[in-house]
Amino acid sequence: MNHPHGKPLLIWAGVLVLLAPAFFLLATRFGYSSEPGAPFIYPDTLHHAGHKLFVHQWSEQEGLGPFFNQNSCVACHNQPNPGGGGTRIEQFAVHVERNKRDSTGTFYPKFHLTQQGLDTIPLHSTARLRRPQTLYTIASLDAISDTTILQLADAFDLDNDGITGRAIQTSEGVGRYGWKGRIARLNQFVRIAFQNEMGITDDEIDSNQIIQTVQLLHDLNEVNRYEPTTDFSEGRSLFNQLGCGFCHMEQLPDSNGKPVYTYSDLLVHDMGKILDEGFDDGEVKGPEFRTALLTNLGRTPPPYLHDGSAANLRQAIEKHGGEATTSIRAWHSLSNGEQKDLLKFLRNL
Ligand code: HEC
Ligand code: HEC
Repeated sequence: MNHPHGKPLLIWAGVLVLLAPAFFLLATRFGYSSEPGAPFIYPDTLHHAGHKLFVHQWSEQEGLGPFFNQNSCVACHNQPNPGGGGTRIEQFAVHVERNKRDSTGTFYPKFHLTQQGLDTIPLHSTARLRRPQTLYTIASLDAISDTTILQLADAFDLDNDGITGRAIQTSEGVGRYGWKGRIARLNQFVRIAFQNEMGITDDEIDSNQIIQTVQLLHDLNEVNRYEPTTDFSEGRSLFNQLGCGFCHMEQLPDSNGKPVYTYSDLLVHDMGKILDEGFDDGEVKGPEFRTALLTNLGRTPPPYLHDGSAANLRQAIEKHGGEATTSIRAWHSLSNGEQKDLLKFLRNL
């Protein structure tokens, strides 16, 4: 007698065998290596006050709203671990040209908490979505002085390399943080994140809690610091030959001259038509973005770029335009093998 489940089981086994290559193809197509670069390390979370604040789900009584996007930092910064980035569209924050609700001028949240309940604010046609960045090494930027960044700026392209980075001057110093590089200091960004993402104002949060959250980001940076290696040297030298390193500078000196690894010059560059948001964000123009830090790339799952429009690293590179045009032309002239070497180097940063 036939075993009643024999046939279906066989069919399922067959389906799985047939699907396995498809899964493999999907995984490689999206450029996410199953062997990411350096392992991620989290500080002693149980006792970390900053970690508790980062994962805490804020309630209305504690200050959430009335306008907000999510009720915790970790709701958006969690890939592949707390403090990481965001990969899902509902984690992307909304910005819009017209709605000037706060000092940064362009922020437009998703939810409105009213006496009647929670309203979802419809996405305006001019709304732009921005991907939450990976935060593991972001705190290192505070150690780089304004003067260092200002010296890199080359607004008139005096060195004639087609690359004219701009430093963004703000009342608190030179901008370093955010896709647009508009925020100068980490504690300032964290305050704004509480305010814009969760609607928690300075009156509703104790300044010590801001300090503790900033401390978490410093501790994450301490244990996940990028260490230079001589591995993937073929990819590394192509990266420099192509001029990627003009903007994605491997390191900038801190005030003692010690290297801070950033793979960014912290300047904003005109990235061309494809990446143009279509409107200015403060004094930063539509197509201008801060050079993305690449020190976390191995731990940042797709999608990439400010709007998450690149499904893999190859697409992220090929969407560069504007000041990066020469560099990307050189990328297209590489052989298949050379492109693979460069991608491998990036995936292991
Ligand atoms: C609704 C999703 C969301 C929430 C909640 C959220 N963030 Fe973010 N975060 C983002 C997005 C999107 C960006 C990029 C914003 C930009 O530059 O326009 C970002 C950027 C940042 C940056 C700057 C990173 C860099 O590379 O310059 C820091 C720091 C940060 N967030 C910290 C926090 C902290 C701390 C909290 C909790 C208080 C928080 N975020 C809550 C979505 C979120
Ligand atoms: C003119 C400056 C400039 C040059 C040259 C340049 N980049 Fe970029 N790169 C940027 C900026 C700015 C961004 C962020 C753009 C955005 O998100 O819209 C970026 C983003 C990226 C990203 C996506 C990072 C992320 O987290 O989403 C990768 C990968 C990257 N660049 C690799 C390269 C490689 C490889 C080269 C050389 C072939 C290169 N870049 C050349 C400025 C530059």
